[in-house]
Amino acid sequence: KTISIIGVPLDYGADRRGVDMGPSAIRYAGLHEKLRQAGHQVNDLGNLAVPVPESRVPKNPRLKYLDEIVKVNRVLARTVEKVVNEGQFPVVLGGDHSIAMGTIAGLLRARPKIGLLWFDAHGDFNTENSSPSGNIHGMPVAVAAGRSQTDLAIPFKGHFLDEAKIVYVGVRTLDSDEAATLRASQATVFSMHEVDRYGMREVMARAMDIVSQGTDGVHLSFDIDALDPLYAPGSGTPYSGGLTDREAHLALELLAEADILTSLEMVEVNPILDEHNRTGELAANLIASALGHRII
Ligand code: ARG
Ligand code: MN
Ligand code: MN
Ligand code: MN
Repeated sequence: KTISIIGVPLDYGADRRGVDMGPSAIRYAGLHEKLRQAGHQVNDLGNLAVPVPESRVPKNPRLKYLDEIVKVNRVLARTVEKVVNEGQFPVVLGGDHSIAMGTIAGLLRARPKIGLLWFDAHGDFNTENSSPSGNIHGMPVAVAAGRSQTDLAIPFKGHFLDEAKIVYVGVRTLDSDEAATLRASQATVFSMHEVDRYGMREVMARAMDIVSQGTDGVHLSFDIDALDPLYAPGSGTPYSGGLTDREAHLALELLAEADILTSLEMVEVNPILDEHNRTGELAANLIASALGHRII
């Protein structure tokens, strides 16, 4: 494959926590080299321009840094659309999870029926009405499903995900209104309970079935906090009881083997909170696994 890397050093969605340095940390961990080893051509488009938060104030406490996030996501959507239309495989490096809105909006323009695999400790299914924090990184899935009436929906130009083609893996904490909405939705949630109960291999078999049948592509959105903080200490909203690094690698190796992914993003890696870029290295290795890296 020809892989186009797009860095998005944005941390407005997480209310300034340092995830803007994620793209650097993941590149520094040798991402290019690992992807070349897996047999791919690597084309790094660099980072999108993002103004620094110190020069801004969050206007609306229910939607912090709304304008800044929408602006970056519009550019990201255009960039992703172009990459896909040129026949390349986009790898988007965050940044916080609010960038998934730009990525998915761009993907939907090129492939209107994508399935979404969302690895996360969280649901990110809040809206402006249910969010307890006002942090937009807790909202991207709801927005991508067409559930937000705010400017966050602008990059989508009226084209949203089919909720029945949204599958979560690794979830273990939801806000109360968020949980109720998610339960009533058509999305499938493989929480840590299902991972423990059936094992990652079975969970992935079911998940891959749902997202690949009747779709024209599969996007993997990977929040590094899906892993237990023991393995991924460098993330801003850690929650215990998460995936082990082996479970995460197995999941992504199974995806590579099935060869169903058409795009990928890695988000919420925070080098400030990390231990010697351990989480950045983990993120780079996970991306390589998803793209077919094997040791033999
Ligand atoms: N549910 C919480 C909120 O909405 C946490 C969201 C965390 N999201 C993330 N992408 N790390 O504020
Ligand atoms: Mn998360
Ligand atoms: Mn997330
Ligand atoms: Mn997080």
